[in-house]
Amino acid sequence: MSEQMIKRYSSNERANHWIIAICFILLAISGLALFHPAFFFLSSLLGGGTWSRILHPFIGVVLAVSFFFFAMGLWSQNKVTAADKEWQKRLGDIICNKTQNLPEIGKYNIGQKYLFWTLVISIALLLISGFVIWQPWFTPYFPVVLVRLAVLVHAVAAFVSILAIIIHIYSAIWVKGSIRAMTRGTVSAAWAKHHHPAWYKEVGKGNR
Ligand code: HEM
Repeated sequence: MSEQMIKRYSSNERANHWIIAICFILLAISGLALFHPAFFFLSSLLGGGTWSRILHPFIGVVLAVSFFFFAMGLWSQNKVTAADKEWQKRLGDIICNKTQNLPEIGKYNIGQKYLFWTLVISIALLLISGFVIWQPWFTPYFPVVLVRLAVLVHAVAAFVSILAIIIHIYSAIWVKGSIRAMTRGTVSAAWAKHHHPAWYKEVGKGNR
């Protein structure tokens, strides 16, 4: 007997998400190679130091554009609600699987929402600071003090976003049944009912 499946992502959303994911990994690897000699060996992935330096900013622009469209689609569902804050207070219970009388969660839980806003802010900062430090095209138009500040902002935003993505990948694997949301576009009704009951009530019925 086949289990009921609920649509969570369209094919456009999934294609966009995986373009973002591939770009992010290439950017993290080439960025670390440019950041410190200890990571320089990673530059081999993009064909050496010169190619890493040339390609890194262009891949960054592709990621920012893809992420912009992806984030626009998810924007309204990531607003933090009173139910989310209550849910956050009960995090200890949730970890111990005591899920009785929890406020009902919509399409995303508060952890996913924090991740979303962390990425929105850090990717915006990476894009802006990236343009300021993009030699030789844009940097000459900015005062040196701003260029120095942009280098710092770029490194801090990259560190935060890499950390956020490590947590994101870990959570996606940890919460069994999530990965298929981004590979097949569907989740099981049981998954939706357990992890996102308010969203299940909203879209679950009659949705196969
Ligand atoms: C290769 C690593 C990645 C894996 C395995 C992965 C997996 C997933 C999965 C399974 C979902 C669906 C979760 C759900 O609907 O409950 C998702 C959603 C999402 N992903 Fe990824 N992802 C990866 C990389 C990225 C990257 C690099 C970004 C952004 C820079 C990103 C941003 C998002 C966002 C904003 C969502 C929607 C909300 C959320 O679950 O937080 N992902 N991802």
